[in-house]
Amino acid sequence: MPGREDTTAQAGLWFEPLPADARQTSAIGAEVHLPAGVPVLDLAALGETDKDTLRKALFENQVIVIRNQNGVDPKVLPQLARLFDPTASDTHSAGEKAVSDPRNILSAYKAGRVPEAPQVGIIGSGTFKDYRGIKELEVIHLDHTTFHESPLPQEDLDAGYTRPYRWHMDTPFYERLPGEVTILHAVQVPQLPDQKLKFPDGAEQEIAAGATAFFSGARAFELLTPEEQEFALNTTVTYAPQAYEYIRHCKSSADGMTIPTIGKETAIADLSEWSWDKVAEHPMVWRNPGNPDRPFLQVHGCCVFKLTTRNPATGEVTVMDDVEQVRATVYKMQRRIWAAGNIYAHRWQQGDLVVFHNRGVMHSITGQLAPHKHDEDKKRLLWQCTMTSGTAPKAFRKYPGVNETGFALA
Ligand SMILES: [Fe+2]
Repeated sequence: MPGREDTTAQAGLWFEPLPADARQTSAIGAEVHLPAGVPVLDLAALGETDKDTLRKALFENQVIVIRNQNGVDPKVLPQLARLFDPTASDTHSAGEKAVSDPRNILSAYKAGRVPEAPQVGIIGSGTFKDYRGIKELEVIHLDHTTFHESPLPQEDLDAGYTRPYRWHMDTPFYERLPGEVTILHAVQVPQLPDQKLKFPDGAEQEIAAGATAFFSGARAFELLTPEEQEFALNTTVTYAPQAYEYIRHCKSSADGMTIPTIGKETAIADLSEWSWDKVAEHPMVWRNPGNPDRPFLQVHGCCVFKLTTRNPATGEVTVMDDVEQVRATVYKMQRRIWAAGNIYAHRWQQGDLVVFHNRGVMHSITGQLAPHKHDEDKKRLLWQCTMTSGTAPKAFRKYPGVNETGFALA
């Protein structure tokens, strides 16, 4: 049991990988057990060894769950986020007041904030009255039918099929750096039959309705050919200016990983005011804490704009700035991960506190919850905390010319 031997005999915090049938070939998932006498997470009750073990659990397994955390103080979530990234700012990475800004991605969910912890967002499905001092809260569960170019037909939806909405990291790709982790807490979980994902090879995977799906950037890198790995290690990705505004009218492929058809992008002249020094620019392959030898392919296939590749031997620079070609290039590399065994779909239980490594996985909403939003026992309510980091992602391969500022150089 990895993790067990790291703790001492005083029943400190320990972890174990999730069962093999949940992890499959995803390289994702562990359950963390809090120390004896600490039923609900309280950072003040953890010793330094416990905190080290918690970091090890997360950085080795990318997604960790602590069960039965009903009643956890929302203020613990930002404290917990800082355990994994001491440079995390005190601001939700969607911004201070972003949920009321119609251009912001989170406003599409009509997300609220927990009044006593403004870093914690509220997402889910349904309307809630008098929730923690909020008179009326409406949260909308987005599903693939609003974003995919060719959504599943009604008969497939009726038969219980679903798709990932959009694979992403939690970050706006503009002005703010991606948080190291995102923390989710299930306050209320809908009682609904399982749903199914269908893969290009015909395989199917049964998942809980509304499961949050993850794939590992490390696993995605492993699946590249040696030539692709070399290309990825030498490449920096520039994201679109005001990336989510830019793709606002675009539609995605059936796997939620790319935008297959060019032409619906918002004209650059019509975007909200922007400048290159705030446009996100990140290495294609990241070196993450706790994983010194493990390269992570971390690219948001829908928001990409430009690829800059440097030949490490000659220093020669190649720029690809045709958006259609950039998307196709990234998709060809990333799409291989979309196979049943590689996807970990978290089956939510009420009380779950899930921490995921936002810089080590891509994640997506799945499920069709909105049709059930008026049924009391089919509503969903989650807390979400993801805080802008003060540190830019690091390139796995360092050499002169690699931009590691986190932003495009004007
Ligand atoms: Fe997200």
